[in-house]
Amino acid sequence: MYHCLDTSQFDRRLLEEISELADAARFISKSKEGADWLSGLLSHKRAMLYFVQPSTRTYLSFLSACQILGMQTADVRDTSTSSEVKGETELDTVRTFSSYYDAIIMRHYKANFAREIADMLDKTNRPVPVINGGAGKDQHPTQALLDIYTLRKSFEQRGGIDHKKIAFVGDLMRGRTARSLSRLLTRFENVKQYFVAPDFLQIDSGVLSVLDRLGISYELVDDIHKVLPEVDAVYLTRLQDEWDDQDKTAGHYFIENYALTMENVGLLRQHAVIMHPLPRRQEISYEVDSDPRAVYWRQVRNGMWARVALLAKIFGVEQEIKQV
Ligand code: CP
Repeated sequence: MYHCLDTSQFDRRLLEEISELADAARFISKSKEGADWLSGLLSHKRAMLYFVQPSTRTYLSFLSACQILGMQTADVRDTSTSSEVKGETELDTVRTFSSYYDAIIMRHYKANFAREIADMLDKTNRPVPVINGGAGKDQHPTQALLDIYTLRKSFEQRGGIDHKKIAFVGDLMRGRTARSLSRLLTRFENVKQYFVAPDFLQIDSGVLSVLDRLGISYELVDDIHKVLPEVDAVYLTRLQDEWDDQDKTAGHYFIENYALTMENVGLLRQHAVIMHPLPRRQEISYEVDSDPRAVYWRQVRNGMWARVALLAKIFGVEQEIKQV
């Protein structure tokens, strides 16, 4: 692993290694001595956080992950303060970062932009790793990584992720978290996927053709109530209406068919888990937060440790963590 650009880079072995590494780093950090040791591992490295599309969790969890490993950071979150306003191209801006920093962690509204940057830097005399913290409507590989880590922990006592049934609910046409996790779930045995969305926001042929090619079982569904009694995990997502102008779609759907409330949460099986990449709007009622099956705040915490593991792997210090 050098760049982390999309989900195609993660096979099952790597997903398991990153989950185990996250657990190991987490355990080490529990003592002051361990936390101090972790913060010396990458204290000679610096990262640029280039987040020009809004983010709370991905930005802060990468920042925290860098701090845990001792990396110094800087960020650009608003291009109005960069020389892009003077006409500098984004490519030149990011190439400038590579002169000062040892990794570029980025979020961008353009699909494939992280790959474009990685390809450009690979041709220079100072290539640095590029990590995609979400790009366009289709790829959010590190969110999928933390979601796999969360599912793995949730099903630890129930045979792991294999043979489970997982429903994605909401704006699946433009929700890069659900689309990325759907791809990573194909690395596990006999996982059935349900896509629950109104027609105009349903998952598209780009994802379904991958599932068809791999012989993965799936169903398209139009009402959350039909899947709640069936599934081991329900993964809710919000309406991604920041893309509306571009897509010319109507930015509304009937929330009651695609939300988890105190009225319908009782339909879920006792051991099912409730996930959401956050931010949420009305997809999950606040009262559901205290349900023991709700793991979305654990996802937030797990994201930091999954990103610690990813950075450790990219900078080649994973063996040191494993050997503690
Ligand atoms: N899940 C996620 O990507 O959250 P942010 O947009 O806040 O980073």
